[in-house]
Amino acid sequence: MRAYYLDKPDRSLSPEELAAEGILSWQLPTDPADYAAPLDTIRAERGYVEMDEIHLGPATENLEGLCTMFFREHLHTDEEIRFVVGGSGIFDLRDKDDVWMRVHVVPGDLIIVPKDKYHRFTLDEARTITCKRLFQDTSGWTPVDRVPAP
Ligand code: LAC
Ligand code: NI
Repeated sequence: MRAYYLDKPDRSLSPEELAAEGILSWQLPTDPADYAAPLDTIRAERGYVEMDEIHLGPATENLEGLCTMFFREHLHTDEEIRFVVGGSGIFDLRDKDDVWMRVHVVPGDLIIVPKDKYHRFTLDEARTITCKRLFQDTSGWTPVDRVPAP
């Protein structure tokens, strides 16, 4: 994971700085045999009852349309939890002063976007990602677009 202010790529953000913005992150192993136990611990501690896997890549139908949708600034009324198991991707998140922070995630990265935090997602130049999505509750997890868009 590498995090920085979008308009200042040299200004790195530490996990502690992200945590101060409510964004929690963990670096887990990339091998399933090694990440299973720590992932289970996080799931149990935080009450994530559901988990599925999402894959985006060149073979994904309407990939560019999906990316356009994910790149619209939005929030959720529940946490958005993503554990990257393949590929890579980019989360942009607004800090408390509404300034964009960028988090580039790679395999082993687990990131929690807190509820009510404006964010957007896109692929990087590799154009593929595989993530496990964890949920506290499957009902009510819908994007709420920022309107009007700033
Ligand atoms: C989502 C990510 C892309 O809401 O923010 O699925
Ligand atoms: Ni989202």
